[in-house]
Amino acid sequence: MTDLSDRTIFITGSGGVLGSTYVRRMLEAGARVIATDLPGHRAEALQDTHGDHENFGFYELDVGIEDQVTKVFQRVLEDGWKPNVVLNNAAITGEMLMGAGKPFPDFADTSVEDFERTMRTNLTGAFMVARQMDRDIVGKWPCTLVNVASMYALNGAHHPIYDGMPFKNFSAYGVSKAGIHGLTVWLAGYWAGRQATVNTIAPGAVFNGHSEEFQRRVGELIMANRMAQPDEIADVMLFLSSAQAGYMTGQLVNVDGGFSAW
Ligand SMILES: NC(=O)c1ccc[n+]([C@@H]2O[C@H](COP(=O)([O-])OP(=O)(O)OC[C@H]3O[C@@H](n4cnc5c(N)ncnc54)[C@H](O)[C@@H]3O)[C@@H](O)[C@H]2O)c1
Repeated sequence: MTDLSDRTIFITGSGGVLGSTYVRRMLEAGARVIATDLPGHRAEALQDTHGDHENFGFYELDVGIEDQVTKVFQRVLEDGWKPNVVLNNAAITGEMLMGAGKPFPDFADTSVEDFERTMRTNLTGAFMVARQMDRDIVGKWPCTLVNVASMYALNGAHHPIYDGMPFKNFSAYGVSKAGIHGLTVWLAGYWAGRQATVNTIAPGAVFNGHSEEFQRRVGELIMANRMAQPDEIADVMLFLSSAQAGYMTGQLVNVDGGFSAW
């Protein structure tokens, strides 16, 4: 099992399917975990589950609001945490943006507002968190950043698998996730020699109650012939967060059951 007892991990978007799995697994592996998310039911569930754990702290944070990013880092440091791992995990998907039950727009009808809202959270938010890490942590003690991309960052979406589904693959999502790896390689060189590393994890399709039909369609695109379980992504996220990944920087690690390999 990956040992994270020397890690203090700051996670954005911690209450989601993957974020909450990372929090649980990282606490189990001995890490101190600084969970952040938007206010709401996900944040409440996290605090209900882990609030009593001595290694757990929670802070409300909207990564798209510049002032909040600065202030939350400040509070975290004032509260005595010394984060040496930061996970840029928060993101909005097209599904989250449109809201349940609302029709999903075709590309031709995609509004600039929806495109920019997605970019604001997924890419500008990740930039602001990385910049705050640079201001407050890099150069003070060794640290690592993990940026979260997607199997649809450097590969195009297979649009036909979404035919008749209540959700589609949203253009700005893929664009933002390609940009995330741009941030990784840019920062890897910028932080070289300052004991700060940065890598990208690109998860594949994670099962979260999808219909049998969707699982079949996406499964056909994946060598493993199935969607991932959140813990299978967490296995690699824990490794990238650990001291054992210390000689890696500027890399993109696909955890996609072989989706990107054929
Ligand atoms: N689930 C998948 O299949 C999959 C695949 C590839 C990549 N990813 C990526 O993994 C990461 C986690 O995904 P997930 O499946 O847990 O998604 P999720 O939707 O379950 O969780 C996303 C979290 O981000 C938070 N969030 C949204 N906007 C925010 C903002 N402005 N500020 C702060 N937090 C905000 C949400 O509240 C939520 O808790 C995301 O970056 C996602 O793009 C997921």
